[in-house]
Amino acid sequence: MTKVQEAINDQINAELSSSYSYLAMSAFCEAQNFRGCAKWLRIQSQEEYAHAMKLYDFLLARNGAVTLNAIQKPAGKYRSLTEVFEASLAQEQSVSKQIDALYELAFKEKAFAAMVELQWFLTEQVEEEKSARDIVARLHLVKSDPAALLDLDRELGARSVESAK
Ligand code: FEO
Repeated sequence: MTKVQEAINDQINAELSSSYSYLAMSAFCEAQNFRGCAKWLRIQSQEEYAHAMKLYDFLLARNGAVTLNAIQKPAGKYRSLTEVFEASLAQEQSVSKQIDALYELAFKEKAFAAMVELQWFLTEQVEEEKSARDIVARLHLVKSDPAALLDLDRELGARSVESAK
């Protein structure tokens, strides 16, 4: 297996781990009766699965070998809604670094098709980090004001699968 293929397999694992982690965050929010946040995070979990499958399909289209490794157990306990979304932002920042490193490797290895495929992910990460950062900023403003928290929960619950990128 080439170095780039191996790194793409690692990225498939990272995206699936991210999907699993968002699902755990969603379950936590559901249990706290923040149903809007739970829905937003559940859709995000589906998006991460789609990211993994995009790379999976790319590997197969290139006649590469897919290797599925164990997915890390996600954290399931948080002290607050703010902590949930701070964890989401940290996760996105870490994925951005992984995508940057993967792109750099593809460049060094002259894996041109992989570079084109990864450009989509570079752009997507800008959006993903921005969404998480915006929500964290809103939560810091709202603090523990119940009415404002419920408003934010309702707003996040308006996210639809179709509007998700
Ligand atoms: Fe697939 Fe949120 O990174």
